[in-house]
Amino acid sequence: CVISIQSDEKSDCAICALDLISASLRIYIIILNKYSTFLLNLQLHLAKIKKIYYNNKYRNIYERTYIMSRILVTGGTGFIGSHTCVELLKNNFEIVVMDNLSNSKRAAVDRIEKISGKKITFYKTDMCDYDGVTQIFKENSIDAVVHFAGLKAVGESVKMPLEYYTNNIHGTLVLLRVMRENGCKRIVFSSSATVYGMNNVAPYTEDMPTSATNPYGYTKVMIEQILKDCCVADAEMSVVALRYFNPIGAHKSGLIGEDPNGIPNNLVPYIAQVAAGKLEQLSVYGNDYDTPDGTGVRDYIHVEDLASGHVCAIDYAMKNKGFEAVNLGTGKGSSVLEVVAAYEKACGKPINKRIAPRRSGDIATCFADASKAKKLFGWEAKADIDEMCADSWNFTKLNPNGIN
Ligand code: NAD
Ligand code: UD1
Repeated sequence: CVISIQSDEKSDCAICALDLISASLRIYIIILNKYSTFLLNLQLHLAKIKKIYYNNKYRNIYERTYIMSRILVTGGTGFIGSHTCVELLKNNFEIVVMDNLSNSKRAAVDRIEKISGKKITFYKTDMCDYDGVTQIFKENSIDAVVHFAGLKAVGESVKMPLEYYTNNIHGTLVLLRVMRENGCKRIVFSSSATVYGMNNVAPYTEDMPTSATNPYGYTKVMIEQILKDCCVADAEMSVVALRYFNPIGAHKSGLIGEDPNGIPNNLVPYIAQVAAGKLEQLSVYGNDYDTPDGTGVRDYIHVEDLASGHVCAIDYAMKNKGFEAVNLGTGKGSSVLEVVAAYEKACGKPINKRIAPRRSGDIATCFADASKAKKLFGWEAKADIDEMCADSWNFTKLNPNGIN
């Protein structure tokens, strides 16, 4: 074991000396295969002393390298999950991906590996399967979970409430139980701006009351409550519920992006298919809202910005305990017609559209107050609507048959 340092700072020397002792102890334990309580306690004390020494400016490097490195990403082959996997790998986290592939393809794993140049461990496992999830925790030492897995179509959830409650809530309960049994206490959860319901006024702040108007929305409200309760029961738990606004766009490589099954419900995937000639016409749901051009206003956020927000949230969860809900949005709204115009610029052709009646359950305006993410994580979204549409079109063009 060779440690060479060049530094004038005493804290550096102290940390390295402690590392050296710790490493020697580990080698001793391995060679003699002797896990005595005394040795393990000694290692624990060394880690504590080391924590006192390390300077704030080394905190990220130290914690990522030594304390937290392996993240379980549930739903990691999906739209937001795949982009977050790339971002986690870029930041030197090891990842284990679990997905039942109900709304994504195995090929996403190869593409994540291609972009990052790193291998990942993939399990085709359903999160409702207690034995399957347990096996993942037994085979991998998991330090934290980023939990994307879930069903997400609002209209479908109204028609199939039992499937939505079972998959999203029961699945999360299974995951939390297995985490508890394996001493894993950090989780970043994919929540949604849908938890602000119909009665709050934008910009939405995290302290506003939450509610829902459909089973999908209720699963998010309920899971946030379950996670809060877990933090009350266990003071060591650390939970960040990220409330996403409207994620769109795709990775710059064009290798991963949104690949919905069937006819898309959301605006940008629908426009993309009109631009690609797969769908004939976009219906603009209402032009009589109280907004500048009468069409609905939303806070669209580039999926790569969203992905980087997850790395910040994991860093935060490593250093803090308790429950935090945090908006991930740009803080700026764009109307349906503005998005159509940006997409037309990106694809270089007009998008065939008509004005249709309002869609039931829609609100006029929804955008985030994004100041908490900046304050807590130092995170801010960077991409504008033009860049989001350009990247969405790039992915659509390069993948006429989706991710296969
Ligand atoms: P997605 O459908 O692309 O990804 C979800 C993934 O979870 C899919 O790959 C699916 O196969 C998997 N999955 C579903 N049920 C599972 C189960 N029981 N076990 C294992 N895997 C399962 O969706 P996305 O857009 O990437 O969304 C990810 C998360 O973010 C979801 O929880 C969604 O509700 C939430 N969210 C999404 C949006 C959005 O606009 N995309 C907005 C707010 C919140
Ligand atoms: C929808 C969901 C929300 C979910 C979010 C992300 C509803 C009521 N809300 O939000 O719970 O968290 O997706 O998955 O479904 N539009 C059209 N034509 C279309 C599609 C959409 O004009 O073909 C308009 C909508 O009226 C809205 C805007 O585009 O004004 C954005 O719609 P969409 O992409 O579906 O997102 P949200 O409605 O914000």
